[in-house]
Amino acid sequence: MSANREHFSSRLGFILAAAGSAVGIGNLVGFPVSATKNGGGAFLIVYALFVAFICLPVMMAEMALGRKAQKDPYGAYKTLSNSDKKWSIAGFLAVLTPFMIVVFYMVITVWIFGFLAQAVTGNLDLLASAGYFGVFINDKSVFIYMIVVAAIVNLILVGGVKEGIEKAAKFLMPALFIMLVALVAYVLTLDNAMAGVRYYLVPDFSKMNASVLNGALSQAFFSLSLGMGILITYASYLSNKDDIVGSSKMVAIMDSLVAFIAGLMVLPAIFSFNPNTDPKELSDSSVSMIFDYLPKLLLALQDDIGYVGASIVASLFFLLVFFAAITSLVSIVEVPTAALMDEKCISRKKALIVLALTTGLLTILSTMSFGMIDWLTSFINYGGGSKSFFDLVYDVFYDTILPLNGLLLCLFVTYRWKKSGLSEELAQGSEGYLGSAMEKYVNFSLSTFIPLILAVIFINTVTTKYFAFSILGI
Ligand code: PHE
Repeated sequence: MSANREHFSSRLGFILAAAGSAVGIGNLVGFPVSATKNGGGAFLIVYALFVAFICLPVMMAEMALGRKAQKDPYGAYKTLSNSDKKWSIAGFLAVLTPFMIVVFYMVITVWIFGFLAQAVTGNLDLLASAGYFGVFINDKSVFIYMIVVAAIVNLILVGGVKEGIEKAAKFLMPALFIMLVALVAYVLTLDNAMAGVRYYLVPDFSKMNASVLNGALSQAFFSLSLGMGILITYASYLSNKDDIVGSSKMVAIMDSLVAFIAGLMVLPAIFSFNPNTDPKELSDSSVSMIFDYLPKLLLALQDDIGYVGASIVASLFFLLVFFAAITSLVSIVEVPTAALMDEKCISRKKALIVLALTTGLLTILSTMSFGMIDWLTSFINYGGGSKSFFDLVYDVFYDTILPLNGLLLCLFVTYRWKKSGLSEELAQGSEGYLGSAMEKYVNFSLSTFIPLILAVIFINTVTTKYFAFSILGI
């Protein structure tokens, strides 16, 4: 183990940092809404099964790879394949993907910060006014918000693993949880709250079809921060004494729990705002829910608690989403940071400067692709429509590449590094793992049906997104 590589100071620090990465914008609004639209409790059950039986083994494999190599994802693939060129491509993708995801996630985080700033300064009525979001995203003020968000992320990251990432997670995650519980407690007191809870929890298995299953699995995969190189990188800051098996379970539980509890905040609020809401009509997009729909709902709370009260609840809500987004952003920027430090042997500060300039430029371009600049707004045509620069980055690096990265990881750990290597690594710090049913399941699933499922999702996404036909018929 490299003597001067920084490590997390405690297991809790690692778990909170990894959970901080996993708990993001998707957990708070996207998950509850898609659960409600797609069978309520039935969706929740399927989602939980996917997390336990498909995502957890992948998460353990990512962590094992990172800790074994004590390197960034590119270095990890290279070291454990003895510099095999083929596998360096997988390593390269595992660094390029987070680099590009920064570009779209940063844009959304900046908007959230902007809405938070407006809610705190008493402008909730403006946020809720018709068409405001469209005006906001093309307003020059987004660049100011961008500078503030970039400064916060860099301030955390420049502190390194213990003083930066771990300290921030130890503060932000408990704060997030307290805010979430406080909002749930308030929302459940509203009229008609229980109608929302019912829609969210009562199972309707008739809604299950291939498309819903595909959506649930993709959501679980994204939500647990898999395929992004993040867990490889974070686990490279663990030592052999740390229990990866136990920690990965904790991270999966925390992430799913926050997503579940968020449903108890969002659905009652929606149904008390409008008891006749037809769940089918709620938007699939977290972006339009958060920036278009929810401000109106938050403003309507003034009938109950006055304008100041509604503004406080709105500020709390946007702060909650902002905290969730910041810990995710930190984790995703850390991947290319670690890659530059490990592969180019430069200091953390220099790596952060290089990334601020490169991702900064691309983020500015994607921010301008919502109408500020025409050629960025109508950047490219595919899948039967014109797409912006932001759409392109989102479609390619979030929708398409994540399952591919997961697939390559499964194949790498089980066929190249070999199951014995994986088992041996996972057993370090987890007594009783060798020979357990868990070990057998992990080795079997990672070498058979999990890569197969990921391959089908990958191919189906490519054909549907770019060639407008689906191999799954969905
Ligand atoms: N799990 C995160 C989320 O739900 C995924 C993510 C992590 C996205 C890091 C971007 C960066 O938002």
